[in-house]
Order: sequence, then structure tokens, then C-alpha cells
Amino acid sequence: MRVLVTGCKGQLGTEMRRLSVEHTKHSYVYVDIDELDLTDGEAVKRLVEKEKTDVIVNCAAYTNVDGAEENEAAALRVNADAVENLARTGRKIIHISTDYIFSGEGWLPYRETDAAAPRTAYGRTKWEGEKRLKEWSRDAIVFRTAWLYSPWGKNFVKTMLKYGAEKDELRVVYDQIGSPTYAGDLARVIYAALDADEWHGGTYHVTDEGVCSWYDFTVEILRQANERENKYKARVIPIRSDEYVYKTPRPHYSVLDKQKVKDTFGVSIPHWTESLKECLEQMI
Ligand SMILES: NC(=O)c1ccc[n+]([C@@H]2O[C@H](COP(=O)([O-])OP(=O)(O)OC[C@H]3O[C@@H](n4cnc5c(N)ncnc54)[C@H](OP(=O)(O)O)[C@@H]3O)[C@@H](O)[C@H]2O)c1
Repeated sequence: MRVLVTGCKGQLGTEMRRLSVEHTKHSYVYVDIDELDLTDGEAVKRLVEKEKTDVIVNCAAYTNVDGAEENEAAALRVNADAVENLARTGRKIIHISTDYIFSGEGWLPYRETDAAAPRTAYGRTKWEGEKRLKEWSRDAIVFRTAWLYSPWGKNFVKTMLKYGAEKDELRVVYDQIGSPTYAGDLARVIYAALDADEWHGGTYHVTDEGVCSWYDFTVEILRQANERENKYKARVIPIRSDEYVYKTPRPHYSVLDKQKVKDTFGVSIPHWTESLKECLEQMI
């Protein structure tokens, strides 16, 4: 199969490129906005035909949660209109969505069948993208993930390493619970879906194993980082969400149930502390 990977310069797209050497069953073309603006439906159609694409892996998105709150229309163009452009090509699609489609007020891991109730503009636009995709491509694969990080782009791990080395104290919320996800682990699940003998359309939840708060995550980031280079000296203080000023409301509970993806694709997913180690080895 010929596979087109969009958003190839983002966190996930970069991991897809990095791990491509281990996956030679199919041939790959990687593009980002410089080569193909996904909001241009005609350009999408042209490139998909020119490249004789069989499958599209959509790693592109408008991921700035606060930016989406200020300009929902811009987020909608990328997170829904562009997804529809891809789906209208009639090719098989693997698309990435988010825990933000849920309310975040639950207390049991969200299953794929749980009701969507997005509380933010970003969540609404991603949910709209899922719905449009399913209208045009019934056998699409949707991987919903959460708390994505990598050595690339902007993410929580990079921010905490920077502040952990610069500041005396970091105040981090301990009442928002989720599962950190190394982008390389999500890329491996995507490759498992592509390399599988059969196409298994449907929606799946994928994060790393284990659960923690942003406070716990920060403590572990600095602990592991100090084992590699002893300069991350900030003291980490747990605070409640109402002690921090957010531009956009954040989900209190983002844990996703991963049983379906494990059963369907036979993947084993590492604990987030192990994956953090793999990521930091590339960074420090
Ligand atoms: N980051 C998280 O914590 C998180 C959590 C849950 C789910 N997700 C989902 O996981 C997926 C991957 O996220 P990520 O963190 O890897 O994203 P990312 O690093 O922000 O990368 C997204 C890429 O898409 C590109 N892009 C934006 N608009 C485009 C357009 N109109 N046409 C073509 N490309 C465009 C971006 O280019 P520019 O940088 O130039 O805009 C960027 O290279 C997304 O679907 C996201 O919603 C992420």
C-alpha cells in the first residue's frame, strides 16, 4: 500500500518518520502544511491522486487549546473541514482524536462508546472532525489519545525540563488525572494497524499505561532527568486547579480505557514511566 502521512513535522508525524525504518511493508509519503494545506480540498484530491495513495494517516491538527478558544473557526477548518477533505478522497483513513471530546468529569476510564460532551472549542472541533470523518468513511480508524509528548515541538515534558532547570519552585496541579502518552508509542500502534493482515475500522483509545496527575508527572520527569544530568533543581509543589488561572477549562479526568486497541491489534503498551525514560534518552 502507498501511505500518505500528513502533519509530518508535528510531534506524532515526526515519530512516524523516525520509526518508519522499522516498517517496510508499505511505502510512505510524508507531508506537512508547506507541501499540502489540508484545508484546500482540491489540493488534497490532486496530491492523493498524484501519489496513488491507498491510505492516509492524518497526524495534522490545530492543537493549540487556548488558541482554539479564541478562534474556533480557525480550529474548525483544520480539525473538521480538512478531515472531511481527506475523507472525501475515498481513501482508507487513520485519524487522531483526543480525550477533550469527553466532559472530563468522569471517574472511570472512558470507553470508546461513552458519550462525547466536549467542554472546549478544541474538543468541539475535534469531535466535529470525528463525526464528519465517519459520514464519509465508515471504515476509518480513529485513535483517541491524551497528554501527548515527545522530544519535538511544544509539550509538557519540554516545558517542565526548561522550568525545572531555571526556577526554584514549580506549582503544578494534582487534581487533573490522566495518562501521559509518548508520541512514539502512538506511532507504533498506528504502524501495527497499517501492518495488520486485515483493516480494522473503528474508534480506539490509545495512551500509555498507568495513571497520574500533572504533579506526579512533573515529579517523575525531574527525577528521571536528574539521573541523567543533575541540574533540574526546582521544588515541585502540588496545587489545586482553582489555584491556577487557565484560559480554557481543563478536564479533571482524562483516563481512556485501552482494552479494545489491545484486543484488536495485539499491541502491548508500555507504562508511562518507561516511555518517559525512552523519550528523555533522546533529549538529555
Ligand atoms: N498534543 C497533545 O497533547 C494531544 C492530545 C490528544 C490528542 N492529540 C491529537 O494528536 C494528533 C497529533 O498531535 P501533535 O501534538 O503531534 O500535533 P502537532 O505537533 O501540533 O502537529 C500538527 C501538525 O499539523 C500541521 N498542520 C496544521 N494545520 C495544517 C493544515 N491546514 N494543513 C496541513 N498541516 C497542518 C502543523 O503545522 P504547524 O505547526 O505549521 O501549524 C503541525 O506540523 C492531533 O490530531 C491532536 O489533536 C494531541
